[in-house]
Amino acid sequence: MVSKYAFGSPFETEAVTAEFPAAAYTGQAVCGDIPVDISVENGFSFSFEMDSADVVYGLGEANRGINKRGYRYVSNCTDDPHHTEEKVSLYGAHNFIIISGKSHVGLFFDYPSTISFDIGYTRPDRLTVRCERADLYLYVITGGSACDVAKQFRGIIGKSYIAPKYAFGFGQSRWGYKTAEDIEAVVSGYRDHQIPIDMVYMDIDYMQDYKDFTVNPERFPDFAAFVQRMKEQKIHLIPIIDAGVKIEQGYDIYEEGVEKGYFCKREDGSDFVAAVWPGWTHFPDVLNPEARAWFGGKYQILTDLGIDGFWNDMNEPAIFYSEEGIKELNQAIGDHVRAFDGAGGAENILDNAHAVPHEARAILEQIQNNQEDYRRFYHNVNGKKVRHDLVHNLFGFNMTRAAGEALRKIAPDKKMLLFSRSSYIGMHRYGGIWTGDNQSWWSHILLNLKMMPSLNMCGFLYTGADLGGFGSDTTRDLLLRWLALGVFTPLMRNHTALGTREQECYQFEHIEDFRHVIGVRYRLIPYLYSEYVKAAQNDDMYFRPLGFDYPDDRRAVETEDQLLLGNEVMIAPVYTQNVSGRTVYLPEEMKFVKFMPDGSLYEEILGQGTHYVEVALNEVPLFIRKGRCIPVVDAAQSVDAIDMDTVQYLGYDGAAYEIVS
Ligand code: GLC
Repeated sequence: MVSKYAFGSPFETEAVTAEFPAAAYTGQAVCGDIPVDISVENGFSFSFEMDSADVVYGLGEANRGINKRGYRYVSNCTDDPHHTEEKVSLYGAHNFIIISGKSHVGLFFDYPSTISFDIGYTRPDRLTVRCERADLYLYVITGGSACDVAKQFRGIIGKSYIAPKYAFGFGQSRWGYKTAEDIEAVVSGYRDHQIPIDMVYMDIDYMQDYKDFTVNPERFPDFAAFVQRMKEQKIHLIPIIDAGVKIEQGYDIYEEGVEKGYFCKREDGSDFVAAVWPGWTHFPDVLNPEARAWFGGKYQILTDLGIDGFWNDMNEPAIFYSEEGIKELNQAIGDHVRAFDGAGGAENILDNAHAVPHEARAILEQIQNNQEDYRRFYHNVNGKKVRHDLVHNLFGFNMTRAAGEALRKIAPDKKMLLFSRSSYIGMHRYGGIWTGDNQSWWSHILLNLKMMPSLNMCGFLYTGADLGGFGSDTTRDLLLRWLALGVFTPLMRNHTALGTREQECYQFEHIEDFRHVIGVRYRLIPYLYSEYVKAAQNDDMYFRPLGFDYPDDRRAVETEDQLLLGNEVMIAPVYTQNVSGRTVYLPEEMKFVKFMPDGSLYEEILGQGTHYVEVALNEVPLFIRKGRCIPVVDAAQSVDAIDMDTVQYLGYDGAAYEIVS
């Protein structure tokens, strides 16, 4: 059952598509049989005592565990490339949690600004959700299980985006492929070594001076012909689109946006100016439906050249610094210099070293993604001026919605690939997400795994992380182990930052191991895509924590390094270095399968309980649930080339499986 409560004057985020009346909060407990304290004095706070056995699921793209208990999280979309354990905010804002124990209750706090979740951080048994303004909708969902609650929630937020099948192929990306030749070299690197691939991503380097919807004509002399040449090789090129539009006289998109008043404005009506990759930029006001349609329409410039997929970036929106921020910094530095000169300059440097610099330093440290900047610009929402910080978490959602709505008009019969860095619940109807700038760390394989089911609860099914790690240098074994998890994530993309070690699979020794691991992905695509489409159509989760299916098995509930995939599979990737296998927990009998490097299959039935399984670097393990089977085909070089005549069924004899695509 879903109940909706309105507090104050909520902003209509359009996260929820189901329409039903909101009850005014009358001061009574709203959480089924759980007594809750709600206060609307001094902002909004919602609090209650958790049972010691309660597990708290949810929060989508958030740090730490599948069970969110024991820490705090803040929904405040942030461009932060250091996903260390203490971080409380990442790129997305997904304010949905499920408290699952003796009863099962889902809570969705539909509030587009900063909101914090203290889930047993201040006091181990207390859950407190707070935000500055008591203007929000609260949805309370009660059900018979965590699964049931998640499904009911999905039922009210609208169907998840379905990516084209080619987007289940493997993709290679790197910040730093500058020219058509660079991209051709990547394609040859894969094709010449028969490592399957379907996509090459184009990072900001393809643009002319980082201007959205432009292609550098020197680096890509005849882009349309190049896109076609790539298509002939079964490669889809996927360009990046950034949120900031470069300020440059003569750049049509900038000029049009200014003229039509489609950029975010300061209080005094001038266009807000922020520095991002291109230098000074304006942000398209994607919360204004007209501006959204205008910005979305620009994607056609690239679809007309043959492009059929995009990734939207820097849409928290990330701000390196603003004009105002630079002025404040100048002022603080000026004060420092004057204090220094006034004190007699270098002779007195020791006496005055402590005088002002901490102010300049504090400004310098905060100049990037400064919360103050988010209070300096406004949106025009259906004629109403809304200060950005009050709706901050909706920017990435609406930038991707701009693209999604436009692409549906541009090519109504064609599925396009679309995913974003920043998001809010509701964006799952328009595209997927990738989990941003992770690092080449072993711990980030596990973080990748743990985020997946939480994202699925919030509707985001087409998701994945930068395999191999974005920041810092990868290693061969890290990449192989990460790919063996990526085999199962809908988005399977190797991406890395400018200046890091080369990370394409063909750069490493024993290329055949990479060919094999990625080949396994292609062997499984008919199954994976089928489970993905079913999950999207039925509001189900593609990835589930073990506790969703085995809620009475405490050991299963506490297992956070294995996941259920679809209805047939359990995955348990290896995520530590220098090991020849790992321990797995089986809540019931399953068939352990390994895709061996020689193309054969290792199969063994394992009983309920704990097992140590050996998994070499070049093997891909999975488990098939008792009495079930999955289709597998022969490996192919591209999704298009998959031959369904080679299908065989793997798993338990007598089981049947229906492929949906
Ligand atoms: C951001 C993105 C990253 C991209 C880089 C350059 O850091 O998250 O994926 O490579 O910008 O565009």
